[in-house]
Amino acid sequence: MVTRVATVAFEGIEARAVDVQVQIIPGSVVFNVVGLPDKAVGESRERVRGALIASGLALPAKRITVNLAPADLPKEGSHYDLPIALGVMAAIGAIPADALAGYCVLGELALDGSITAVNGVLPAAIAAAARGLGLICPAQTGPEAAWAGGDLDVLAPRSLIQLANHFKGSQVMARPEPAMAGQAGPLPDLADIKGQEAAKRALEVAAAGGHNLLMNGPPGSGKSMLAARLPSILPPLGPRELLDISMIQSVAGALKDGALSNRRPFRQPHHSASMAALVGGGIGARPGEVSLAHGGVLFLDELPEFSPQVLDSLRQPMETGEVMIARANHRVTYPARFQLVAAMNPCRCGQGLEPGYACRRGPNERCMAQYQARISGPLLDRIDLRIEVPAVTAADLILPPPAEGSREASARVAAARALQATRFGERGLPAATTNATCPANLIEQVAHPDADGTALIRQAAESMRLSARGFHRTLRVARTLADLDGEAQVRRMHLAEALSYRGRGDSAAAAA
Ligand SMILES: Nc1ncnc2c1ncn2[C@@H]1O[C@H](COP(=O)(O)OP(=O)(O)OP(=O)(O)O)[C@@H](O)[C@H]1O
Ligand SMILES: [Mg+2]
Repeated sequence: MVTRVATVAFEGIEARAVDVQVQIIPGSVVFNVVGLPDKAVGESRERVRGALIASGLALPAKRITVNLAPADLPKEGSHYDLPIALGVMAAIGAIPADALAGYCVLGELALDGSITAVNGVLPAAIAAAARGLGLICPAQTGPEAAWAGGDLDVLAPRSLIQLANHFKGSQVMARPEPAMAGQAGPLPDLADIKGQEAAKRALEVAAAGGHNLLMNGPPGSGKSMLAARLPSILPPLGPRELLDISMIQSVAGALKDGALSNRRPFRQPHHSASMAALVGGGIGARPGEVSLAHGGVLFLDELPEFSPQVLDSLRQPMETGEVMIARANHRVTYPARFQLVAAMNPCRCGQGLEPGYACRRGPNERCMAQYQARISGPLLDRIDLRIEVPAVTAADLILPPPAEGSREASARVAAARALQATRFGERGLPAATTNATCPANLIEQVAHPDADGTALIRQAAESMRLSARGFHRTLRVARTLADLDGEAQVRRMHLAEALSYRGRGDSAAAAA
């Protein structure tokens, strides 16, 4: 007879159904796992054997075959231990044979019979709910599974014995409660920044429309400081976005104790990051920084110091909002719709833009062009807002702190995002759509400027040689500026401000 246990295999954040089939027949004493298992899955035999013995169950001296179907889907990870052990337990009559019928199972076993946490419980729970099954998962990840829906039956045992007792009815387990991570202190506030009004405005515009932002300025002008204050003005997460973001974190093993976080991700990889670290890949095709920043911000400080190949690998995900990692035998896709915020110095000496400063490496223009050539034109073209952050003056620094802080700015951002949510909701787009991410044909409709504005953008498109993408991106920023003003019509002044955010970067790219 064959016992069957439902489990999953992960392809990106997708949980594919896998059937664990256990057969125990007379014959030579062996324990085999077949069905394209990787090393961790192959080793699960030893953990299953140890855990069963520790739980007071001996494996029968027979031929045990475990088949993971479908056989052509590669199986990676350690979460197959628990379904295999439960299949064996059902086959030898240690738990009722029909007990497992309504459940999808995942978990790793320790040699002492306890069940340890695994990655990907949230997507597995959502997939189980969609298939009309309950979920058996490790105790530590129970709070994560409970997010998949109030009517999902979740069992989160600490050990094999606890689960066996539950099925026997001698010690029934309670359903775990969904958990939200406690806030780790307040976020840094915009009120800490003195002066830099233009940069603060650009930061607010970036937050309101989800636009990419590049800050260029001398050392110590406060670029890293400004970027660190972006999370404090970003709009709160909607329920759908919260689940989408948490699924990626679940697969990456970034959820602590199964608790979800309602803060938008803010990822800040160092400039020595490799391609695999940034876009994903490596063992088990893990999600990279671009996917961990999904729905939030990817902050690249000292942009030209990143390797040019790594930077150019961002171009595709920035356009499509997802990243595809090709492996030898299959492809994995992760969502990667992030907002890029980058900071850089104008040149290697850092002072190239300062009036009256002469770079050591010859004319300022050449020094700047050499440094900025490390960033490709197509990447720059994808950045809607490019601003200069000049050095703060002593006069600014001795001023009292500004009256306005993150609270006021985030209220304006939230109002602008609410306008976008209704606009794109009415057109049937997902709730997380922003002016920066809506389809190009739609932005032409919703950001149609008045007659004065049309004349301005026509003239600017010619004189600034805007690319088609540049044209649409200007419209996107103008739409956000009008949203911040609460206006339905995009006007000339909105377009003028939007165009001002493209200026300098283009000339630098042209010089390079
Ligand atoms: N506008 C400002 N108001 C108050 N303090 C500031 C301001 N700008 C800079 N500072 C101070 O200067 C320090 C350095 O700023 P920050 O690290 O953000 O500079 P940066 O522009 O990122 O420089 P680099 O190009 O060298 O990375 C901050 O920690 C802060 O103490
Ligand atoms: Mg810095």
